[in-house]
Amino acid sequence: MVLTIVVIDYKRMCEEALQLTDGLELAPFKPHNIVFAGMGGSGISGDLVKDIATDVGVPIGVSKDYTLPPYADSETLFVCTSYSGNTEETLTQFVEAYKRGCRIVAITSGGKLLEWSQRLNIPVVKLPTGYLPRDSLPYLFFSVTGCMEKMGIGNYDGTREFMELLPTIDLQPVNNIADSVKGSPILTFYGPSKFSGVLKRVKSQINENAKMIARAEELPELNHNEVVAYEVHGYPELPVIFLQDRDEGREMTERVRFTRKTVGGNTYDIWTHGSSILAKVMSLVYQGDHLSFKLAEIRGINREQIKTIDGIKNELERLNTVATLEKELESMNLSS
Ligand code: PA5
Repeated sequence: MVLTIVVIDYKRMCEEALQLTDGLELAPFKPHNIVFAGMGGSGISGDLVKDIATDVGVPIGVSKDYTLPPYADSETLFVCTSYSGNTEETLTQFVEAYKRGCRIVAITSGGKLLEWSQRLNIPVVKLPTGYLPRDSLPYLFFSVTGCMEKMGIGNYDGTREFMELLPTIDLQPVNNIADSVKGSPILTFYGPSKFSGVLKRVKSQINENAKMIARAEELPELNHNEVVAYEVHGYPELPVIFLQDRDEGREMTERVRFTRKTVGGNTYDIWTHGSSILAKVMSLVYQGDHLSFKLAEIRGINREQIKTIDGIKNELERLNTVATLEKELESMNLSS
């Protein structure tokens, strides 16, 4: 069975995303550090912004659990992302960030995150409804960069470059990779640590959309452990896909060459486009996302269904974590 896959309309969504923060009032802020909180398809926006925000001059943490990092305080910019607005790990951090006096910005399409932010007068970007959380990435990503730009944190000039080159990216090479690796039990992605967020995104997209096991490792670190795994047996049947930057330095180029040789035959490459870090990161994300859609299509997988994620969320609801948080907010008499 071949399913017709509705894929993300990146161009339209990116254009809309750039307007989402237009009416939002955000005073300038010079944080001592930044924490992005969010899970899964929402949380990845923090990882990606961390990849591109190389000029903000303060440490950036991405927090994917119930606990807010210990260093978060009134000098922290806390960016809270949940597409549904009802993810309990994210909401738990939101309440803690409020108690610690962090400067909070929320990004959501609804749920408790929208309700609580409005009640507490916390700036909130309201995303369009009706998407899968992971499909809403253009909205999430450009809402985060839009808010940071408004507060005077970092420079996002690469946005224009990405928007211009997006329609020119040829997806045929990615289709060819999908065709070659479709039968593999596991996909491995290697790439430089400057693309740490992209590696996480492509792995998760393969998991959630194509329902395949995938793994991602960073260079140069994998040259200090993972490569040894190929010494005894080699795994020529397991494909390895390299995320590659056309402007890579000599050392990394040499590491990729060495690693490819070590891995043996079955390797592929997905290349960056553009010259800014934002364009490079988002062009890789675009192609990685497409790879996951194409694999879902070829393998006849319903990419929208995520029974196990929904199942664990339903199971956990029995513990009443969100209701308890709500009561805590009420008992603190925090409604404005
Ligand atoms: O893509 C998905 O559906 C998931 O990874 C969700 O993003 C994740 O479960 C968190 O939910 P939300 O994005 O609504 O906070």
